Amino acid sequence: MSITLPTQSTMLTSDFIFGVATASFQIEGATQIDNRLPSIWDTFCATPGKVKGADNGDIACDHYHLWEQDIQLIKDLGVDAYRLSIAWPRVMDKNGEANQAGLNFYRQLLKKLKAEGLTVFVTLYHWDLPQHLEDKGGWLNRETAYRFKDYADLVTQELAEWVDSWATFNEPFCAAILGYELGIHAPGLSKPEYGRQAAHHILLAHGLALPVIRKNAPASQVGIVLNMNRSYAASEKAEDQFACLMRDTLDNQFFIEPLMTGQYPQILKTVAPHYFPMILPGDMDIISQPIDFLGMNFYTCNHNAYDADQLFKNVPNAAPVEYTDIGWEIAPHAFTELLVTLNKQYSLPPMYITENGAACADHIIDGEINDDQRVRYLEGHLNAVHQAIEEGVDIRGYFAWSLMDNFEWAEGYSKRFGLTYVDYQTQERTIKRSGHAYRALLNSRKP
Ligand code: FCB
Repeated sequence: MSITLPTQSTMLTSDFIFGVATASFQIEGATQIDNRLPSIWDTFCATPGKVKGADNGDIACDHYHLWEQDIQLIKDLGVDAYRLSIAWPRVMDKNGEANQAGLNFYRQLLKKLKAEGLTVFVTLYHWDLPQHLEDKGGWLNRETAYRFKDYADLVTQELAEWVDSWATFNEPFCAAILGYELGIHAPGLSKPEYGRQAAHHILLAHGLALPVIRKNAPASQVGIVLNMNRSYAASEKAEDQFACLMRDTLDNQFFIEPLMTGQYPQILKTVAPHYFPMILPGDMDIISQPIDFLGMNFYTCNHNAYDADQLFKNVPNAAPVEYTDIGWEIAPHAFTELLVTLNKQYSLPPMYITENGAACADHIIDGEINDDQRVRYLEGHLNAVHQAIEEGVDIRGYFAWSLMDNFEWAEGYSKRFGLTYVDYQTQERTIKRSGHAYRALLNSRKP
């Protein structure tokens, strides 16, 4: 089973980069080693009922110890680039001083990635906030944005030499809304006005860090990574159309509009004023500074019907469609539509697809993992990216989520997204059929 793209696709030329992605908390383990401080995800995992199977990140994929063999795995997949994140609680102590032991881990990792000829994309914040900052209010506390600036300053001073691309944040929507409004991610708070205030402070932190990163890493590109699902209305009825508009506004536009234009969606002021955050003078200019790239994570779409209390509610697609093991509809056409629509709405910087992938109920049988659904998913979505490029969107690269199975947040280890299978008992990695197909596609490129 293979993945094909049209032979003329510009994605098959040498300028387009293909990679795989991971995040610190999801793979590293070693949570209590080398002076690493507790993060909000350690606390969340230790809170009964929050994470499936009471799973935690204590061992995860033990990447902290197995990083050399994992770099070999990245090489074996034949990719050009690797996207990883740095764990804030590993590299900075409570007083804001460097923790050299933690920095050394990333130094050796990044050095080796570069020595292997890989392009390195680093995310500064993929959700593992130090718990001591959460104890002071976390992202509800404006001060956290300034602490993030200090953290970005430290990391880019120490590590810029080996990094090609810096992203400030991964998915502010998830960090703020799932974490502070819906309570399903760490720190598990749930008030409507919390989510939006946390989001504003995260976007502010992004903007405060930009000039610092540019100063310390003048040779790298700097951007941010957003996640978006394409929203559809459940019917032609005006109220469902309105529900769809609100879903798109709250989940998607609320994050991209301030970055691109310096304002939050104004419709919220009349329709849902409690969702409008507290903004201080100057904030929006800080947030909307130019970025070199926008990262986009895409997995699925949603269907929305009107709900008097919540403005919208999720309904299943009325058409017969295929779902992945995490219950997400497979909708590659939605990916093209999303990208093309955003490109019309905004004057976008170059884009990278920083995550895309499928959870499948994988089993290893006779040493093989035949994840045909994932192969089809990747082929569909890569062709969707190709189509978006054909329609004028400037997309420079694609990262599959993920290098290997890992800790899938509130789902624990129950959902597998890897191109590589991880046996959590033995930490053995086995490349799945999808990983082989991805490598074959990449190898088919002309030099
Ligand atoms: C994204 C996250 C990533 C991973 C995938 C499945 O929202 O950025 O860490 O969990 O979903």
